[in-house]
Amino acid sequence: MLLRIKKHPIIDFKDSERISFYFNDTKLHGFKGDSIASALHAAGIKKLTTSLKYDRPRGFFCGIGKCSSCLMKVNKVPNVRTCIAPLNNGIRVETQEKLADWPDVEFKSKSKETANVDILVVGAGPAGLCASLEAAGQGASVLLVDENQTVGGQLVKQTHKFFGSKQEKAGTRGIQIAIDLENDLKKFEQNGKIKVMMDSTAIGYYEGDKEKQHKFAVVKREVYENTLYEVNCRAAIFACGAMENMLLFPGNDLPGVYGAGAVQTLMNVFGVKPGKKVIMVGAGNVGLIVSYQLLQAGIEVDRVVEAMPQIGGYHVHAAKLRRCGVPILTSHSIKEVYGNGKVEGAVIVKLDNNWQPVKGSEEKINCDTICLAVGLTPSTRFLYQVGAEMEFIPEAGGYVALHDDSMHTTIKGIYVAGDSSGIEEASTAMIEGKIAGLSAAISLGYKKKGDSSLKKQHMGELDRLRAGPFGEKPRIGKHKISKLLGKRHV
Ligand SMILES: Cc1cc2nc3c(=O)[nH]c(=O)nc-3n(C[C@H](O)[C@H](O)[C@H](O)COP(=O)(O)OP(=O)(O)OC[C@H]3O[C@@H](n4cnc5c(N)ncnc54)[C@H](O)[C@@H]3O)c2cc1C
Ligand code: FES
Repeated sequence: MLLRIKKHPIIDFKDSERISFYFNDTKLHGFKGDSIASALHAAGIKKLTTSLKYDRPRGFFCGIGKCSSCLMKVNKVPNVRTCIAPLNNGIRVETQEKLADWPDVEFKSKSKETANVDILVVGAGPAGLCASLEAAGQGASVLLVDENQTVGGQLVKQTHKFFGSKQEKAGTRGIQIAIDLENDLKKFEQNGKIKVMMDSTAIGYYEGDKEKQHKFAVVKREVYENTLYEVNCRAAIFACGAMENMLLFPGNDLPGVYGAGAVQTLMNVFGVKPGKKVIMVGAGNVGLIVSYQLLQAGIEVDRVVEAMPQIGGYHVHAAKLRRCGVPILTSHSIKEVYGNGKVEGAVIVKLDNNWQPVKGSEEKINCDTICLAVGLTPSTRFLYQVGAEMEFIPEAGGYVALHDDSMHTTIKGIYVAGDSSGIEEASTAMIEGKIAGLSAAISLGYKKKGDSSLKKQHMGELDRLRAGPFGEKPRIGKHKISKLLGKRHV
């Protein structure tokens, strides 16, 4: 229990049921609600696995099930993503050396289940939640799946008050927005319009009758008893979020180099400190906000380094950090990270006007954690699989599916919303979700009086949110997307 957060100004980490488990034959303890990786971190264990080729130690990086650096053997089952796998009493967790052995267990195979719904929504972050609520509000039946234990996506770790518009809950903490949306969801669960499946991953798209129906496979995880669902739906909305970007530098794979989202997850969801002394890389809003949250959790932030000559995030966030004595060094970056099996220090360096390291400006700093807040890339694997037309749009964060202003892609009945459709914010993700949910339901015949003015209202709200200087990038990105779509589909 070395790294548990004892006191926090916003979150009350109540003691939950104590759980014991084994790590390579050593008995350890965690709490109900922990993931396996968070319980290991709390016990000071950062090396979770080894790399396939060079046998290098690997630790947690994304913390949300999107990379492969936390794969371990759990109760003899290999390749378990321990950052999202719940901790259960008595389980045996083992470090997996290179390639996993063939599982030496008997799987009880539950019979396959079938779910027939109007709309499948993949992802229960702000975009997917709002899409589900809006579609069910129109009368459509919805199946909402998410691979996490709790709904809310990235909101569940955002302890700060949101910017944006009043309608999209500006001034409310992200964690509270997640609770409010979950309460709205419960009303529709009670009347049977929305079925929610957590711990469930949408894993593939299959040949259906594309004109009338789409077919997806969803796996619901239970210990040794995964259930395979064949989901037949008339429309699907992908609200799968985004993946954290990596930076290239020697030692970037050492345990202790984390994405900013992973650090937030450890601290704000599980109440576990990622380390004792952190260097933050990136002074956009995410880097600034997470640095402040590290201080709130009682962790030292040595400094923030930013390659650009100016701070990218809101100055109010930067001012808060500076008041706490954290230096923010612009035109600086990380040169290398060193350590024996885990991060023990880093070298930072000044950059010249051509982004080249200035010789002699290197500084060696002892620290145990490097936090990378260097942007996100949309999660789009499913969109490739369904055959949607994809384009590289730098302002949207990478490859995204071309979509119209109803969030409809180039494949009939397939919609996209939130960070999956271009990196932006939770406030815009919520509105895009509403537009996608409303449009999908209307396209299936669930029409109500006043629908067109409701859609116009949502679109007006999006324009307002994107009107300011911080909305410039997504504004340009969305403009490029609709221009390309117009050119190809006149
Ligand atoms: C530090 C930080 C601060 C931020 N501050 C703000 C702010 O102040 N205001 C603001 O508006 N925004 C803010 N944001 C941004 C905001 O959190 C995101 O833009 C928003 O969460 C995106 O919502 P989403 O629904 O698209 O994706 P997510 O919230 O990422 O949700 C996607 C969900 O999809 C699930 N999923 C993905 N693939 C599958 C699959 N195959 N099967 C099942 N489930 C799947 C994931 O598990 C996840 O739960 C902040 C972000 C960070 C990191
Ligand atoms: S998948 Fe677990 S840390 Fe990335």
